[in-house]
Amino acid sequence: MVSILLLNGPNLNMLGKREPEVYGSQTLEDIVASLNKIMVEELGGKLEHVQSNHEGVLIDAIHQAKGVHDGIVFNPGAFTHYSYALRDALSSVMLPTIEIHMSNVHAREEFRHTSVIAPIVMGQVVGLGSDGYEWALRALVRKIKASR
Ligand code: DQA
Repeated sequence: MVSILLLNGPNLNMLGKREPEVYGSQTLEDIVASLNKIMVEELGGKLEHVQSNHEGVLIDAIHQAKGVHDGIVFNPGAFTHYSYALRDALSSVMLPTIEIHMSNVHAREEFRHTSVIAPIVMGQVVGLGSDGYEWALRALVRKIKASR
C-alpha cells in the first residue's frame, strides 16, 4: 500500500475565501476529501494531510515522514520562493516529492517565478487549480508503484 503525505503551507487554509479569482472556490477541506476518496477507492493507498502556516511545523512534518510515507505532495505556498530550510528538509529525507501550485506562478509577480524547492523535487504541477493536486497525487503514486 502506498502512503503519501499531503503537505500544505501558509495561507492554504484560507482556500475558498482567499482571492477566489486566483485560487477558485473550493476549500482545502473539499480538496482533501476528494483526494482521500481517490486515494482509497482508486489508488488503494492512504493519505495523511498536514497544513501549517509555520515553517518549523512543515519541517517537522517532512522529517517525520521518513520511514512512514512513500512520497510527498507539497504546496509550500509563499515559502516556495525563499525557504532554503524547507528545501534542506526535503533533501534530508530523500522522499520522492511533487511540488504543486494551483495558480500559474510563472504568469504572476516576478518573485513567484523562482522556486528554491524545484531543483530537488521529482516534478512540478503548476496552474491547474485544485485539479493540480489530483494530477500530482496520481503521478506520484504511479512513479512509486513503478519503482517497486
Ligand atoms: C501558491 C503560489 C504561491 O506563490 C503563493 O504564495 C501561494 C499559493 C499556489 O498554489 O498557486 O500561497 O503556492
